Amino acid sequence: MFYKLAQKVMFQIDPELAHNVAIGSLKMTGNTPLNCFYRQNVAQVPVECMGITFPNPVGLAAGLDKDGESIDAFHAMGFGHVEVGTVTPRPQPGNDLPRLFRLKPAQGIINRMGFNNKGVDNLVRNLMAKKSDILVGVNIGKNKDTPVEQGKDDYLICMDKVYQYSAYIAVNISSPNTPGLRTLQYGELLDDLLGSIKAKQTELAAKYGKYVPVALKIAPDLTDEEIKSIADSLIKNQFDGVIATNTTLSRDAVAGLEHAEEMGGLSGKPLTDLSTKVIKTLAGYLNGQIPIIGVGGINSAQDANDKFAAGSTLVQIYSGFIYQGPKLVSEIVSAYRSK
Ligand SMILES: Cc1cc2nc3c(=O)[nH]c(=O)nc-3n(C[C@H](O)[C@H](O)[C@H](O)COP(=O)(O)O)c2cc1C
Repeated sequence: MFYKLAQKVMFQIDPELAHNVAIGSLKMTGNTPLNCFYRQNVAQVPVECMGITFPNPVGLAAGLDKDGESIDAFHAMGFGHVEVGTVTPRPQPGNDLPRLFRLKPAQGIINRMGFNNKGVDNLVRNLMAKKSDILVGVNIGKNKDTPVEQGKDDYLICMDKVYQYSAYIAVNISSPNTPGLRTLQYGELLDDLLGSIKAKQTELAAKYGKYVPVALKIAPDLTDEEIKSIADSLIKNQFDGVIATNTTLSRDAVAGLEHAEEMGGLSGKPLTDLSTKVIKTLAGYLNGQIPIIGVGGINSAQDANDKFAAGSTLVQIYSGFIYQGPKLVSEIVSAYRSK
């Protein structure tokens, strides 16, 4: 009820301004009695994934709380985990405005944010300051001005800094808004990146006496052959998980709608089927060896169930959360519980 009202107001203003107001308000209220406007009791439905017991299978997808400013507020909403980031070694402003568009009739979003974030050191400070014990995954990326050939170094710098504060680390090579980033999804570049990350994980696990799983986040715009090659590389490099999927470059599902031709990644309802298809194909190649975190166009409990049926162990939401509000978390968990 409160969310519908808040959404009505927010949808009247510029999407990025609305986003900033929302994150700011959640930051201020997350640990105060004012969190009663969005706090909800969600059933405990423990799920094992990547060696971690999650209190329920629903997480907040990366990009909504890039700098980890409102983690406790998302905990109050009942999320089983929050993925913060994408964070880069150095702060960067991201692309020029406007860069965020609502496609309301399709319940979709197009963004070309370009990893705007305040840098990894700021994120670490926020992780240290959070009060709740919610599981936090940290999604890491490379700075725009780091050449792709040296991109690996940026991931390793971020890993070093966030390792001891993360429940898991997500390696993002699938944003369409950082030039050249998606080339890391293929062939030798991928194998080399995953191998280096695995070696760093082994080193850090020994240093801190704590094993933090690493997961790869992939795009939905991949052929079956490319998905197979990624699956082979994940298995070879003993990755702990895979997050599928990021936003799509395809506009098939929104052709003719206002903003449909904006550059960037499309998310929300128009992505649902494409992402589920990728998860199904990936699950076939992984054959249960590596768990999948399913994300992309989950707008209802049924959409989440389709992701589970396709082979996901956990799910994450972003656009569905914007269009449906916190009730989507409790609806998915309830449906999962009564399966
Ligand atoms: C505005 C916006 C910003 C995003 N930023 C990131 C990001 O920084 N890193 C990332 O891995 N994914 C990012 N994503 C992708 C989401 O995490 C998610 O994979 C994608 O939106 C599909 O899920 P959805 O349909 O539930 O939104 C972003 C999505 C949106 C809409």
